[in-house]
Amino acid sequence: MTADATPSTSSVSSPDGPVLVVDFGAQYAQLIARRVREAHVYSEIVPHTITAAEVAARRPAGVIFSGGPKSVHVEGAPHIDPAIYDLQVPVLGICYGAQLVALQLGGVVANTGRGEYGRTDLDVVRPDAVLFAGEIAEPQTVWMSHFDSITTAPEGFTVTASSPDAPVAAMEDVARRIHAVQFHPEVVHTPHGQEILKHFLYQVCGCPPTWTMVSIIEQQVEAIRAQVGTGRAICGLSGGVDSAVAAALVHKAIGPQLTCVFVDHGLMRAGEAEQVVDTFQKHQHIELIHVRAADQFFERLAGVTDPEEKRKTIGELFIRTFESASGGIDDARFLVQGTLYPDVIESGTKDAAKIKSHHNVGGLPDDMDFELVEPLRALFKDEVRRVGEELGLPEEIVWRQPFPGPGLGVRIIGEVSPEKVAILQNADAIVREEIHLAGLDREVWQAFAVLPDIRSVGVMGDERTYAHPIVIRAVTSEDAMTADWARLPYDLLERMSSRIINEVDGVNRVAYDITSKPPGTIEWE
Ligand code: XMP
Repeated sequence: MTADATPSTSSVSSPDGPVLVVDFGAQYAQLIARRVREAHVYSEIVPHTITAAEVAARRPAGVIFSGGPKSVHVEGAPHIDPAIYDLQVPVLGICYGAQLVALQLGGVVANTGRGEYGRTDLDVVRPDAVLFAGEIAEPQTVWMSHFDSITTAPEGFTVTASSPDAPVAAMEDVARRIHAVQFHPEVVHTPHGQEILKHFLYQVCGCPPTWTMVSIIEQQVEAIRAQVGTGRAICGLSGGVDSAVAAALVHKAIGPQLTCVFVDHGLMRAGEAEQVVDTFQKHQHIELIHVRAADQFFERLAGVTDPEEKRKTIGELFIRTFESASGGIDDARFLVQGTLYPDVIESGTKDAAKIKSHHNVGGLPDDMDFELVEPLRALFKDEVRRVGEELGLPEEIVWRQPFPGPGLGVRIIGEVSPEKVAILQNADAIVREEIHLAGLDREVWQAFAVLPDIRSVGVMGDERTYAHPIVIRAVTSEDAMTADWARLPYDLLERMSSRIINEVDGVNRVAYDITSKPPGTIEWE
């Protein structure tokens, strides 16, 4: 199902619409949406300004109110159209969302001066409660984060659980299918949290757990065929996960009507260009135009040292190269892009029909007149990876780290030259191989080498050396907005260092970057 798919039934409470997660400004809304999807039920995030009519139009199987940072009583605190409670759609309020349910339906929310933060003991006072039914109807630990408390449940509600400082830690109105929990079932610190969510999704909303990677692929294949018909589509491959999975999915749908364009700017990591060609041309049998443009890029980059000018130079040449390669397929009307759900949430728009802004990979031009095909618009990154696995893409592509569009160009400080690229590729390959051998691929967000524009003195085999240092950069992160330097084991750093110095000509020193983001950025330029 796409982000704006039209459900097929007419009943407002039809369980085949999405579960809507109403965002009250918590960092938890995305997490809730993901947990729902992990229960194999499709979910989407909507703003709290959504009206009851708009909710009804989506025919959701259920609605979940997220937590939020404010008190329901402060001026400007986000509320929701109360007509939502009359839609006969199941509702689950979480934390702030629970308090809003209580307030809007006539209960009492008060600042008791006794909030709860962190792990809290929960006493399930009604073992027959829908959310706690079965094996989880027992005292348990939950994660709390609230300063106000629901002190009186609204009429028609039964209090089903309490905690030391939350007399109404959970409540239900079974007849109206409205439930509320003061704690956060979506975080891992609530051990039975996922079970509680599943009770809401399966028992209260009646959702079948049918949203799987296989069903996503089937639905998307159908949607792509309907959109493209007998037309032709092109897709720019960057070597990254998103464009790779998007291409494989579109190819599954329309086969030879898809042509991929891979602009090889000579700034890829070691072996990467070959891998892209191998994977897509040889194994997936996708028609691929491989543009070997390294010489042109190096020529244009000669003398360019300013980071912004370098990015611009690479971006512009990339666009021109892509344009002239795709110009050959003059009947192509569709452009495949690997836009992900977080981008859609951020941009707040769901109907980007033409390219208007820069592309996240290569920076495609504003004036290309294509209709976009975006088969990953409804998916989070980890879901994209699983779709990729399901489509048979190799692990090295599916689990690849993020890589900047300008490639190694922004990891070579100062002027870029083929010689420097070769040094960096070799050092970078060692860093990534050692991370892989240490089993840290999925723990580390990115790990790579940087080549600064300096040289230092060293001694090797009684000889004085005067050569480049390599800086190792390894970070942990959730979304690249913030990052921390990875606490790699010393012996791993030691192995990287000695291998780089022994195996890479032109390097006599290795340093480890211990800067978080902020204040640093992940890339050096
Ligand atoms: P910074 O260096 O800003 O990077 O902390 C954040 C994340 O974005 C990646 N990055 C890029 N990705 N095109 C991309 O597609 C780019 O021009 C680009 N520049 C940085 C970077 O690798 C990190 O994951």
